Amino acid sequence: MAMEAEAAPLGEAIGAFRSESPPWARALPCRLDVAPATASRPEVVLAVNGIDPRTGVDCIGSTAAALTTQTVLTAYPGDEIDLVLSVGTAGGWSRLGADIGDVYMAWDRFVSHDRRIDIPGFDAFARGDLPAADLRHHAAALGCRTGIVTTGDSLDESPDDQERIRASGAEVKEMEAAAVAWVAHLHGVPVGAVKAITDLVDSPVSTSEQFTANLAAAAQSLRETTLALLDRLGADS
Ligand code: ADE
Repeated sequence: MAMEAEAAPLGEAIGAFRSESPPWARALPCRLDVAPATASRPEVVLAVNGIDPRTGVDCIGSTAAALTTQTVLTAYPGDEIDLVLSVGTAGGWSRLGADIGDVYMAWDRFVSHDRRIDIPGFDAFARGDLPAADLRHHAAALGCRTGIVTTGDSLDESPDDQERIRASGAEVKEMEAAAVAWVAHLHGVPVGAVKAITDLVDSPVSTSEQFTANLAAAAQSLRETTLALLDRLGADS
């Protein structure tokens, strides 16, 4: 997860306790908390990007997300981790039927909309197209929508970004998932995403205003949906 405000309700609910990062990652702000398995839930490692020491704000975005994912997957090697989930807030589109508070699970892939390399081969690398774990039956059971998740390092979007998002068919816009997916794939671990909609990209109200107004409610939705998903994953295993 990227933000403390997104992670706090879930962290409290699962009763996680602090775990050490591997030595190579100790200079990074990311934080690992572990919640032991319960009768209904598998063991959970809650990894949060942490606070940037220079600016004092959450390390939102793909660089910190990739480093956090690498930290988790070296602290708990790929053969110990069944599934990586990128959990957080996102923008959606009312023209595609999204509403504030909706929760999406990623299907069928993660893409990047602000990495443009117009050279054969590199164009595909930049776009990502990383497969998402098939959580559709869980999404249906939990009343979640599903959609392609598109990642970029800005809260707003340039005209080029908008064009690429339309071309990819993405329905969920956020700032970490494709980076998390890239690292998880390198480790051979399936990756999914749970994203609560804080803002409608095609609304006349600014994204930052919508985001700020809806962050706390979205964090509660993330908590409820993620807990229910963890119970269902526990029942499957
Ligand atoms: N996180 C929440 N809303 C977002 C948006 N519209 N774009 C990128 N990241 C977001």
